[in-house]
Amino acid sequence: MVKVTVCGAAGGIGQPLSLLLKLNPQVSHLSLFDIVNAHGVAADLSHICTPAVVTGHQPANKEDSSAITEALAGTDVVIIPAGVPRKPGMTRADLFNINASIVRDLVANVGKTAPNAAILIISNPVNATVAIAAEVLKKLGVFNPRKLFGVTTLDSVRAETFLGELTGQSPSAIRGHLSVIGGHSGDTIVPLINVDSTISSAVSQWSPSQYQAYVKRVQFGGDEVVKAKNGAGSATLSMAYAGYRFAETVLNSLSDPSKPVADSTPVPDSSYVYLPGLPGGEEFSKKYVNGVTFFSVPVLLQNGEISSFINPFEKYKITSEEANLTEVALDGLQKSIDQGTTFVQGSRL
Ligand code: NAD
Ligand code: LMR
Repeated sequence: MVKVTVCGAAGGIGQPLSLLLKLNPQVSHLSLFDIVNAHGVAADLSHICTPAVVTGHQPANKEDSSAITEALAGTDVVIIPAGVPRKPGMTRADLFNINASIVRDLVANVGKTAPNAAILIISNPVNATVAIAAEVLKKLGVFNPRKLFGVTTLDSVRAETFLGELTGQSPSAIRGHLSVIGGHSGDTIVPLINVDSTISSAVSQWSPSQYQAYVKRVQFGGDEVVKAKNGAGSATLSMAYAGYRFAETVLNSLSDPSKPVADSTPVPDSSYVYLPGLPGGEEFSKKYVNGVTFFSVPVLLQNGEISSFINPFEKYKITSEEANLTEVALDGLQKSIDQGTTFVQGSRL
C-alpha cells in the first residue's frame, strides 16, 4: 500500500508522469494536486483499469489550504514538478523568482502534513530548489536528508540516448554503464563515460572534438528541447519518463524494505542530495567536491530512503577531462545552493 502525491499534476510533466504512476501496481493511491485542472486529470486517469485509486485536489481559492493537506495526508512519496518552465533565451536560474516560493510553500506543507515522506524535486532550478526544500524541512525540524532527492535522471537518460546514437549501441545496454554527477544545469552537469569497459572501449576512438560535442549535448540537452518547442515550454515527456524511472526505484525500495535496491544496473541512477546528511557524505564533500553541500551522486535506496551513495571519484576511472569538468561544475553549484538557502532563511513558513 503506497500513496504517491504529485504536486503540479496537471502540467506538462505532471500529466504523463501521473499516467506512468497509475500504471505501477505498487501504487495503491495516486493523489494529484494542482492549482488548476487537478479534478479533470484525476477523473481521466481514474478510468484506467489498474489498482491505484486516483484522487484530485485543487484549492478553491488562494486562502484554501485544505486541498494540499488532503492531497498529502498519509503520503509515502511526494513528487514535485510544480512551477514554470523555461522559454527560449532563459536559463534555469531565471525561473528562481517564481519557482522558489512555489517549492518552498509546497515543501512546507509536506513537512507539516507528511514529514516522513520521500520528496522528489523536479522543479527548476534544481540546483537551488533542492536547497530550498532542505532549508524548509530543517526550519520545521523534520529534515531527513536520506529522503530528499533532486531529480537529475533526465541527464542520465540523455547521456545514454546520445551515446547510443553515436556508438550504435542500444541505449538500454548503456544504462548502468555510465554515470552523470554534479548538478542539473549546463556545465554543472558532468557525464562520466569511463565507468567500465562497455563504453570506454566504444568511445576510445573518439577525437577530442567528438568527446567535447558529446559532453556539450548532454549538458545542454534541455536547451535543445526549449528551442524546438519555441516558447511552448521545456522537456515534459522525456522528463516524465525520467521522473518515473527514479520514482520506480523509490517504489521498488518500499516494496521490499529488507534489501537495498539500485535499479538492477551496475551503476545506479544519481540524485542531487544533501551530502553532509548521508553516511560518509561530509568527508566526501570536503575531500572531493570543495565542500559543496549538494551534489548529484549515484544512490542506493532502502525502504524509501538513501542507504548509501557511491563515490564516483574512487569507484570509477575518472579521466583528466572529467576531473576538469567537475572543477567547472563546482564553481557554479555553491552559488545556487546559497541562493536557495538564503531565500528560505528570510522567509516565514
Ligand atoms: P507546466 O507549466 O506545464 O506545469 C507546471 C504545473 O505546475 C502547472 O499545471 C501549474 O498549474 C502547476 N503549479 C504552479 N504552481 C503550483 C502550485 N503552487 N502548486 C501546485 N501546482 C502548481 O511546466 P512543466 O513543463 O511541467 O515543468 C515544471 C517544472 O519542471 C519547471 O520548473 C521545469 O523547468 C522543470 N523541469 C525539470 C526537469 C528536471 O530534469 N528536473 C526537466 C524538465 C522540466
Ligand atoms: C531539462 O533539462 O530539460 C529541464 O531542466 C528543463 C529545462 O529548462 O531545460
